Amino acid sequence: QETSTDIFYTLTTQSGTTAFKDGPLTETYGYNGSYLGPILRIRKGQNVHLTTINKLNENTSFHWHGLKIPSNVDGGPHSPIQPDGTATVDFTVMQEAATLWFHPHPEGLTGEQVYNGLAGLIYIEDENSDALDLPKDYGVNDFPIIIQDRFFDENNQFNYEDIRNINGTQGDTLLVNGTISPYIEVKNEQIRLRLVNGSNARNYQFKLSNEEFFSQIASDGGFLNEPIQMDTLQLVPGERAEIAIDLSDYKNGDTLQLMDGNAEVLSIKIVEEIDPDGIPLPKTLNDISTNFDNVSVPDKEMTFSGMGNMVAIDGKQFDMNRINLRAKKGITEIWEITNLNAMMSGMIHPFHLHGVQFKVLDRNGEIPPLNEQGWKDTIALYPGETVRIEVEFSKEGIFMYHCHILEHEDNGMMGQIIVE
Ligand code: C2O
Ligand code: CU
Ligand code: CU
Repeated sequence: QETSTDIFYTLTTQSGTTAFKDGPLTETYGYNGSYLGPILRIRKGQNVHLTTINKLNENTSFHWHGLKIPSNVDGGPHSPIQPDGTATVDFTVMQEAATLWFHPHPEGLTGEQVYNGLAGLIYIEDENSDALDLPKDYGVNDFPIIIQDRFFDENNQFNYEDIRNINGTQGDTLLVNGTISPYIEVKNEQIRLRLVNGSNARNYQFKLSNEEFFSQIASDGGFLNEPIQMDTLQLVPGERAEIAIDLSDYKNGDTLQLMDGNAEVLSIKIVEEIDPDGIPLPKTLNDISTNFDNVSVPDKEMTFSGMGNMVAIDGKQFDMNRINLRAKKGITEIWEITNLNAMMSGMIHPFHLHGVQFKVLDRNGEIPPLNEQGWKDTIALYPGETVRIEVEFSKEGIFMYHCHILEHEDNGMMGQIIVE
C-alpha cells in the first residue's frame, strides 16, 4: 500500500545572477532562485500539483523528463507558458523509485533555457527504495550530482546566443550542482551519487581517480536488478545513473576524484572513519524482466541523420502540426532506431522518448551491456548503430521523441507520436 497524499509545488522561473567565480556575477536563470531548482521529492502513489510561474521574458514550459504521465501534463512544446503566465498541472505518480529530472521544453528555446540554469531533480521513492539497505541520508551519503559544462566569457557571462553551437554547445568549465571545483565531505562508508548529465551536448566518461570499481545501482527509470561493477560509465545528455562507491578502504584525510576522462568532476574527501569492514550493497535491487531473444519484425523503424541545421528524424524536421507516429496505450512495440551518421565522422545522438520508460533489446544485434538492462528513457545512438528498444505507453496523448543534444532538438531533431 503506497501513500496517496497530495504534494504541492510552486516553481517560478526567474532571471538573476550567480557567483560562480571571482569577478562579475553571471546572469543566469533558475527556479525559485538564481540557478537550477529544488529537488522535487515524490512518493509513488502521490498526487502532484505543480504550479509554474514564468517570470522570464520568453515562453517556457515545465517538462518532467522520465515521468510516465499523460501528455497534457508532460510539459513539452505543446504546453508553453507565456511571460508572466502561470500553469498548474495535476497528476498521480505511479512508477517506481527513480532519479528523474525536469527542465523547460519550449519550442526552439530548450538549449538556451537549460544552459542558463533551468533544470532540477525529481526523486521518486517507493516501498522498495525504503526497504533497500542503500545509502539514503541526503547530503551525508546520498548526493544529487547534476553535471554541466559551461563557458565563461571575460566578464564571466554565459552569452549563450554568441557561443551557441548548432552541433551542441559545450563549455570548458565543469559545474556540479552549479559549483566549480565541487567537493563533498563523507565518512569512509558506502556513498551514493545520483548522477544526471544536465549538459546541453557533452558526453561524460566517468571513472574514479584510483581506477577502482564502483557499482551502478540505477539507470534512468529505476534500480537495476543488481549492482553492476563498473570502472567507466558513460552518460550522454539527459541520461542518469545512480552509483555507489565503497570507501571502506579509505582513511580520514584521503581524497578521491570522480573524473571525466582526465578532468576532475567531483572531489570526495573522507573526513571521518567509521566502518573498517565496509557495508555490502544488497545483492538484489529490483525485479525487471528481460527478454533479449525477441527477433520479431520491428513495429517502428526510425533514422537519425544529419548535422547542424540539417538534423532530422526519418528525414524530417520537427513540425508542431505533424504527427509522425501512432501507438496504442498498453500495447508493447519494438522500435528499431538507426543513427545514419557515419561510423568514422559521425556523432552520438542521445535518443530520448517522453512518457515511458523503455528497455533496450539489442545494440547492433548484441545484448546491451548489463547497466543498460534496466529502465531507460535516454540512450546513446552511436554512429552507424541500430538499437532496438521495447516500448509500451501507459498514458495517452502526444509525446515527443528527440535527440537530447539540446541544439539538435531545437533545430528540429524531434518528432511526435500520438498514443490512443
Ligand atoms: Cu529531457 Cu524532451 O526532454
Ligand atoms: Cu523528456
Ligand atoms: Cu543529435
